[in-house]
Amino acid sequence: MRDWPYEVFPTGWYQIGYSAELARGEVKAAKYFDRELVMFRTESGALSLLDAYCPHLGAHLGYGGAVRGECIECPFHGWQWRRDGGLGKIPYDTDAERRVGISAWPVREQAGLMLTWYDAFGREPFWEWPGITEFFDEDTFYPVYPQGADHIGVRKIIPQSPVENTPDFEHFMWVHGAGRAGHSLMWEEKEHYLHTRIGFLFGAGKKSTWLTPDGEVEGEIETEAWGLGLSNARFKLGDFITSQLTATTPVDAEHSRLFDTITATREPGDDGVEPTGRSGRMITFQKGQIRQDFDIWEHQRYVEHPPFAGREADAYAKFRRWSRQFYFDTEDAGAR
Ligand code: FES
Ligand SMILES: [Fe+2]
Repeated sequence: MRDWPYEVFPTGWYQIGYSAELARGEVKAAKYFDRELVMFRTESGALSLLDAYCPHLGAHLGYGGAVRGECIECPFHGWQWRRDGGLGKIPYDTDAERRVGISAWPVREQAGLMLTWYDAFGREPFWEWPGITEFFDEDTFYPVYPQGADHIGVRKIIPQSPVENTPDFEHFMWVHGAGRAGHSLMWEEKEHYLHTRIGFLFGAGKKSTWLTPDGEVEGEIETEAWGLGLSNARFKLGDFITSQLTATTPVDAEHSRLFDTITATREPGDDGVEPTGRSGRMITFQKGQIRQDFDIWEHQRYVEHPPFAGREADAYAKFRRWSRQFYFDTEDAGAR
């Protein structure tokens, strides 16, 4: 029996990889949303994600399929399929006009990430993902790829869990060894977008740490979530910024493939690609921190009506209400 109360995957954009890891002409099998899929990049460079099974006799295009121009060719009898899932040609019946096709998934490439859209009703995307400001700005920040781009792999984690860090101000002390809980500075919901700011004392109670050599510093964690598949935490210590995106893409009802993408402010005068100094250390530190969360989420059981303690209740209840809009099997979802 699964612990998760919903029958569908939440609507939204989800990461399916890094752009740099799919070359022109390359084909990869994938599995997301309980579906066998194939992704490929055409010779012109366009990304494509299709259902995997060839409509002809059911070969899996991800195993032996090959890019031919703007199509993918089936390894079984060479039928060619376009990016939109339409039939390109049958090599031994070139006049054939068949109305057969494969489901094509919406795709985008943004800030070095490859994305697809999921909606239980099959609706086309009704919002776009703008990307992470820091991931576009390689003058001020280290490039995210490859150093900041981590494949966490498939874990028993649902997309709801990582984004629930947003209202969870208490867990910093327990999971992340912080000296003090965070507190809410701002909470803003704009339909699928949730934007918050959390006040946070870095190096709380410590005379000196590598991050806060002169003692504790009042900083901020700014969070942004676009649906439940993509959530970013921006750690701000004065003008030193670290930006970390957690992407959780369902594979089946209980498992997701996770990606951790991070960058930080360049060290003064450093125009290299490899993060150094405080920046490098912060990136390594945060990659370790998020793994502590992953371990909790992996073994966690979802509690639908938690017995919240005092000050937890407000933000958590707001978060749970916001998150319902992405589940289209629940009575109140979509009624907003
Ligand atoms: S199964 Fe794909 S061409 Fe025959
Ligand atoms: Fe956390």
